[in-house]
Parts: sequence; structure tokens; C-alpha cells
Amino acid sequence: DWTSDTFIDATVAELKAKIGSDKVVMGLSGGVDSSVAATLIHRAIGDQLTCVFVDNGLLRKNEFEEVLDSYQHMGLNVIGVDSKQRFYDALAGLTDPEAKRKAIGRVFIEVFDDEAHKIEGVKWLGQGTIYPDVIESVSVKGPSATIKSHHNVGGLPDFMKLSVVEPLNTLFKDEVREVGRALGIPENIIGRHPFPGPGLAIRILGDITAEKVKTLQEVDYIFIQGLKNHGLYDQVWQAGAILLPIQSVGVMGDERTYEKVVALRAVGSVDGMTADWIHLPYDFLGKMSNEIINRVKGVNRVVYDISSKPPATIEWE
Ligand code: XMP
Repeated sequence: DWTSDTFIDATVAELKAKIGSDKVVMGLSGGVDSSVAATLIHRAIGDQLTCVFVDNGLLRKNEFEEVLDSYQHMGLNVIGVDSKQRFYDALAGLTDPEAKRKAIGRVFIEVFDDEAHKIEGVKWLGQGTIYPDVIESVSVKGPSATIKSHHNVGGLPDFMKLSVVEPLNTLFKDEVREVGRALGIPENIIGRHPFPGPGLAIRILGDITAEKVKTLQEVDYIFIQGLKNHGLYDQVWQAGAILLPIQSVGVMGDERTYEKVVALRAVGSVDGMTADWIHLPYDFLGKMSNEIINRVKGVNRVVYDISSKPPATIEWE
């Protein structure tokens, strides 16, 4: 019978035999899958594993610093790379969702390849691929899949010529979480909602600027902290805020305002393939709306997305 402990023992032994004294490089996203995969590989081969965590400037508020800190506490040998400006430059003026995704994927690969080149004699590429990714290879999830989806783009970056090691490719998400807990990975990583690889770039409709990212980070932070403080976070599969490319009229004191609109989204799901909007309590939504409008400059209206998937998607882009 499957238990996380027997899985861990068997996998660590297998990884040791397979990798020997070679070096492995791996990209971390802050998500559950890559974190658990890295921890398993690290348990097998220690600091022969180098992890790369890229700040693409599209993460949640404080996320890069906090997650990097968690990784270091977990003992992982991790390099944090601040590439915010590189991503913003590549995104400048792009409005089409797929064009934004492609630009982000391309820059990620460039940054990762640069880092991989700094490690001498690396032979393996670690990936957090899980079983559903294997059977549904069209699904694009996280940096690892960003890499996969670029497989056929001719002129492969050097790191893609590495052999791949994917210790989680037989597991489902709930098993990955169980293994992660058994490995002692902190709950702030294990219990985390899924977050798309392109990050806030696909929650800012239209073109991306550093200023819009900052605005959305503040809104998202209030909403996510609110969910946590009201005991709602764990009842939700995924939640976030969307910055709309429109302005609406409001009133503040004696003055009319003409400012941005944000949408809040919270869905329940088991695998992201279908999803239902969550009936968050009205008084909670009211609190969030007040807090966001009072505290975030440039936002004067908050709406709640009551669409389910299908026919809507979870993300707006
Ligand atoms: P949709 O919007 O298609 O999203 O209902 C389903 C799940 O996939 C995530 N998602 C992405 N994840 N790269 C990712 O890594 C992407 O380009 C991407 N687009 C959507 C989404 O957050 C949800 O969990």
C-alpha cells in the first residue's frame, strides 16, 4: 500500500543510485510541486542540487522574499535571481494574453539558462512534473511546463539538453502534499493556492507596467490576508484579484473620481478543470471592498466574479 514514508524511502534510494555524484539544477516556483520535488532530490544528494528561484516581478506582494527565506530555512541550496526589470521590459506594450505568456516563458528560459551556465558540470535538470501533467501534456503549469512547452522551438537553450529527473511524476496533487508534509515542508508552502506561472501578468488585463503590478499586489494582499484572517483561505481552491483596463466614476468627499476597477475571484475546484465560484459571505466581501478602496490608491470600485468554469475560466486571460 502507498504511504508517503515508503514513497520517500524508495524515491530517495532511487535518486541516489541514478544521480550518483552528478550535479542537478532545478527551477523553483514557490508552488507545492517544485518545492516537494526539490526537497526530495536534496534529501538524496544534498548540495549537489542547485535551485534557481526567479523573481519575475509578477509574484504576489512579499512572496519572493518570504518563499526564498522558507527555502533557505529548509536547507535548500537556492539562488534567488532578481529579474523583474527584464520581464517588465519584455512585456512592455504587450496586451494579447498569449503574447504575454510567450514573452514571460522566453525570458524565464533566458534567465534560467544564464544561471544554469554558472554551475560547472551540471548533468541533470530537476522538474516538479506530477502525474496529471504527464497524462495531460497540454496543460501548462509553472516554470517546468513553461520549459516543456518550448521543447519544439528550435535552438534549444543548453540546459534543455540535460537529462531530466522528475521524482513526482507518478503522484497526484494530494499525494504530493502528503509527501511534502512528511518531508517537513512548512504549511505556508504545502497549503498554498495554485498560482499561474505568468503570475499577475494574466490578472492585469491589457498591458503591464510596474505601477499596475504594485496596485494589484496591494489589492491581492488585502484579499488573501482577509481570507486567511476569516478562516476562509483553506475552503478555497484558488483566489485572487484582477485589475480591469477600465475606469469608472466615483465620489470622494466633494470630488468626483475616475479610477480603476478590480474584480475579486474565489473558486472551488478539485483539479482546476472545472470550478465553481465560491459564495463568500456578503459581510466579508463588504469588508474587503471597503478596505481595498480605502487603502489602495487609484482604485474606486470592487466587483465580485460570480462565474463558474465552464463556460468562464478561472483566470480572466
Ligand atoms: P483557467 O484560467 O484555464 O486556469 O481556468 C486553470 C488553472 O491553470 C492556471 N493557469 C496557468 N498556470 N500558466 C500556468 O502555470 C498559465 O499560463 C496558466 N493559465 C492558467 C490557473 O491559475 C488555474 O489554476
